[in-house]
Amino acid sequence: MKTYRIALIPGDGIGKDVIDAAWQVSEKVAGKTGFGLEPTSFPWSCAYYKETGAMMPADGIATLRGFDAILLGAVGWPAEVPDSVSLHGLLLPIRKAFEQYANIRPHRLLPGVEGPLKAKDFDILCIRENTEGEYSGAGGRVHQGTANEVAVETSIFTRTGVERILRFGFEQARMRRGKLASVTKSNAQKYSMVFWDEITALVAADYPEVTVTSYHIDAMAARMVMAPESLDVVVASNLFGDILTDLGAAIQGGLGFAASANLNPDRTAPSMFEPVHGSAPDIAHLGIANPIAAIWSAAMMLEHLGEKTAADAIMDAIAAATAAGIGTAPGQDKTDTITKAVLNALS
Ligand code: IPM
Ligand code: MN
Repeated sequence: MKTYRIALIPGDGIGKDVIDAAWQVSEKVAGKTGFGLEPTSFPWSCAYYKETGAMMPADGIATLRGFDAILLGAVGWPAEVPDSVSLHGLLLPIRKAFEQYANIRPHRLLPGVEGPLKAKDFDILCIRENTEGEYSGAGGRVHQGTANEVAVETSIFTRTGVERILRFGFEQARMRRGKLASVTKSNAQKYSMVFWDEITALVAADYPEVTVTSYHIDAMAARMVMAPESLDVVVASNLFGDILTDLGAAIQGGLGFAASANLNPDRTAPSMFEPVHGSAPDIAHLGIANPIAAIWSAAMMLEHLGEKTAADAIMDAIAAATAAGIGTAPGQDKTDTITKAVLNALS
């Protein structure tokens, strides 16, 4: 029997609740489909930071490298550890170290979920560059605390980085409805974003079957609200993709439905799967976090591992639960109730 080694990092806040739910569903589907899952849980989190002074041990990345995939709940507990410390100590280094350059976020309405828009029939795949751009971490501050203080944070766009994310996007578009939207702000940012537009045109030449349109980020934000059904694959830089995918989460009914995969498409290191919602301190410990985003992320993990049948079974079970009205609105059902409904639909 094929067995996959999975690193579980529940992290902070509701991360623990939703990873527990996603893991129950993953184990059940593995049993039914006939493969094994071997979990190793890591306590890396803000609580771990308070104890040890680091979000993960110095050999954390080396440890994770041996796994087939990583399932992560949420990182951040700003009341105790500044986000700029916790995120740069755990989530962001994993994305970069393992070259998880494609952050994939599907936005569509699950059956039974209303969403805030009149438009219901949209199916968008946002693909966010995940290792460079505005998140490069290049910069500094001088004259700190004085009136002359200066802060610089430089976006770094490399030809390798931009080309590989666009190529990945075109591959996805080819397998979907053949439309790709490339998002920049090249009317204002005349170096990096013009560079991105040029590379879009270059890569597009290799994919004549894909219709490509370039949009500015502001216009794309409006389009996702006014005409989401006109979009198929949307490719954007790290920060633009971050912002657009919270908008995507909103139009699909809320962050409780927003799943994501941080993919290393070349498979030179493990990929990481996580719900988009974060640790949600306001509802942590209440048992009302919607686990659907995490369960959906687990389905993406199994698909990446080659277990498409199992992934499809999870998506069908989620759809059965929401079609029956379970977990369709924020705070409406307990985490446990939603998890049980998905587990039941699997049998
Ligand atoms: C996300 C999150 C992270 C990001 C934060 C927590 C650093 O918002 O995954 O979308 O900006 O990438
Ligand atoms: Mn975000």
